[in-house]
Amino acid sequence: MKEIFSSRTPPGLGSVNASRLEENAKEKLKDHPNAFLYVVANAGLGRTGEANRAELDRWRIVPRMLRNVTIRDVETTIFGVKHPSPIFLAPVGVQGIVHRDGETASAAAAGKLGIPYVMSGAASRTIETVGKANGPNGHRWYQIYWPRSDDITISLLNRAKDAGFTALVITLDTFTLGWRTHDVDAAYIPFIHGVGGQTGLSDPVFMAKHGEPLMTDDEIPDFPYDFEEIDRRIKAGDEKLVRRMRLGVAWVGESTPGYFRSWEDLKFMRDHWDGPILLKGIQSLEDAKLAIEHGMEGIVVSNHGGRQIDGAIPSLYALRQICSDPTIKEAQASGKLTVLFDSGIRTGSDVFKAIAIGAQAVLIGRPFVYGLACGGQAGVEQVIKSILADLEITLGLSGHKNLDEIRGKADEVLVRLD
Ligand code: FNR
Repeated sequence: MKEIFSSRTPPGLGSVNASRLEENAKEKLKDHPNAFLYVVANAGLGRTGEANRAELDRWRIVPRMLRNVTIRDVETTIFGVKHPSPIFLAPVGVQGIVHRDGETASAAAAGKLGIPYVMSGAASRTIETVGKANGPNGHRWYQIYWPRSDDITISLLNRAKDAGFTALVITLDTFTLGWRTHDVDAAYIPFIHGVGGQTGLSDPVFMAKHGEPLMTDDEIPDFPYDFEEIDRRIKAGDEKLVRRMRLGVAWVGESTPGYFRSWEDLKFMRDHWDGPILLKGIQSLEDAKLAIEHGMEGIVVSNHGGRQIDGAIPSLYALRQICSDPTIKEAQASGKLTVLFDSGIRTGSDVFKAIAIGAQAVLIGRPFVYGLACGGQAGVEQVIKSILADLEITLGLSGHKNLDEIRGKADEVLVRLD
């Protein structure tokens, strides 16, 4: 932590303050405003995003004095693996739109700092490339957008296993994109689909289905990350690019789960994946209980950072409802269910609050993407280190020396303002 105070922020990052970090990312991406808006924006009028933050703000920490907190740690054990902190990097798609190194930079940053990395199923790099960038000692999970075709699903699961991904996160809240007005206005969605089709372009089963040869790693990243360049190259008859965009859009059609999946279908995933499975996007107690009934090892209480439904409940409110229930508490205590949380976490005190309310760990989305935009791998590292330093300081100043002292103890360590 001393390093945080003694080193200057890396070039480009500018500030570790959450609001200024967002402004700096905006400035950095000023020539690509649609890329910035894609990251920052929420569904509709942004009410769920605002509510996520407002609910975190309503909860306040009650500090205790004169306690021995000389030695503090924020270690966290998830699925039997001890991690240095309760922070994970959330699955965020198409990171190549904010920085040319995309997911290779964020996966490398996470691997270096021992932070678990959740790779998006809509990444702008292949499963194999991200696995390699995360390194032999990295802890990585794979997030899937459940394909329509079982053959493709099995192919993705096998590729993820082979590339060292140990847990599977099934995102349920995005079988179609939310009503994101900026992206509609800017016609940004087909572009995003072109970028995020990477997993399909590197998938042998998908490409065979389309009668296409597999693209090599070197060919795939060849994608211009701005509209004018794309237009120019299409007009100039760049067939490789046209093919790539066509397949990218086809991949999105393939990899959205559609409306037809039911709780029973989870058995298929269970049969084809050896490690833990978590359902991401859970916002109700009933669904949390259904996850247990269907043999899932974990849930991510998330509303996709407010990007899917406008006017939904704040994710922290959902967490409170879920983690106050005796069945869930018991499942957590016995190790049957792991509860993770995301949507709105920006600071160490936000992490503290989510853990106190009952989350075992949290995922961070936009802050690390802003770090990536500002400073590539070094920017992501700086964002992670800053939130960790903030968490450790907040924990100590509040009178606690580890997370076990606060986990699930909201009634003792927090109050909720009306
Ligand atoms: C996301 N998120 C997301 N989730 C997922 O399961 N798969 C994905 O591909 C993506 N892609 C994605 C792109 C961008 C640009 C953002 C901002 C978010 C949602 C993400 O995992 C997480 O739930 C939220 O980002 C958490 O909220 P905060 O931390 O951004 O407020």
